[in-house]
Amino acid sequence: MLFIDTDPGVDDALAILMAHARAPGVAGLGIAAGNVGLHHTTANALKLVELMGVSTPVFPGAPQPLVRRAADAAFVHGADGFGDTGYLPARRAAHNEHAALALLRLSHAHAGELVLVALGPLTNLALALSLDPQLPSRVARLVVMGGAVTGQGNASVAAEFNFRFDPEAAHIVFSRWPRFDLVDWELTLRHALDFERFEHWLAGGDARAAFFAAISRKARAVNRARRHPGIIVADALAMAVALRPELIINAEERAVAIELDGGLTRGATVVDWQQRRTGAVASARIVLAVDQPGFEQLVAAALGARTG
Ligand code: BDR
Ligand code: CA
Repeated sequence: MLFIDTDPGVDDALAILMAHARAPGVAGLGIAAGNVGLHHTTANALKLVELMGVSTPVFPGAPQPLVRRAADAAFVHGADGFGDTGYLPARRAAHNEHAALALLRLSHAHAGELVLVALGPLTNLALALSLDPQLPSRVARLVVMGGAVTGQGNASVAAEFNFRFDPEAAHIVFSRWPRFDLVDWELTLRHALDFERFEHWLAGGDARAAFFAAISRKARAVNRARRHPGIIVADALAMAVALRPELIINAEERAVAIELDGGLTRGATVVDWQQRRTGAVASARIVLAVDQPGFEQLVAAALGARTG
């Protein structure tokens, strides 16, 4: 059973579609502010749930980072986080329970079985972990999308967006969670999706593809304008790693700390690559390569399309 903490967001949307396209089921969506404000990220999650015709509960969480306010990513995802298509809002409502509390409750209900997938700023996870330090003992696996492990960020020179948005939350999770998988920004660049092939899936898929084509129009244009090697869907890559860990081809376990104070580097992931500098426990399994055809199959299936 999955619990997805997310800030939808275009690539979050693809990840959520992917998670619902195959077992083992989704216990809930915890929602954070990040790509855009909490009002929009919650509305976007509800819209996706309605589109898929599922009953996955949506739990709004933190409306802002733990300590300092931060800039959003509306310039990529649109002012509403879903490409400003003016979609009809979902008829269903979000749950009243805070995302952090829902996560704690569901971690008891599915103790030892829950796979936690963090696709946004780690604010909700940090709150849950602060309330209950025993949380990791009930979670089967944690997969985090965030960071730039050799310092080549997307939100600043050195920092990736999710951790740049809430560095203190990332610090809490990284310093207390005993072992987790890390899918960083630089990995997502190495696993970009070919522009033409992606268009083919969008054209050949079902209602999910049509919706995703609309909400991702702006983000796809940004990918081309920035001369990325293809379409970057960071959260979908993290979800693929969560759903099919056997897709991991190469990974290294290292101690990773989050820079909180640097004027140029706030939110950066500082990796002890030499494994002797800090003496800290190597709690992050940094994913370095993923089976690309296997990843692409999951992407196509999430859109109701076929690879090839
Ligand atoms: C991450 O930041 C967000 O803009 C995306 O949704 C993804 O989670 C990539 O840096
Ligand atoms: Ca995200």
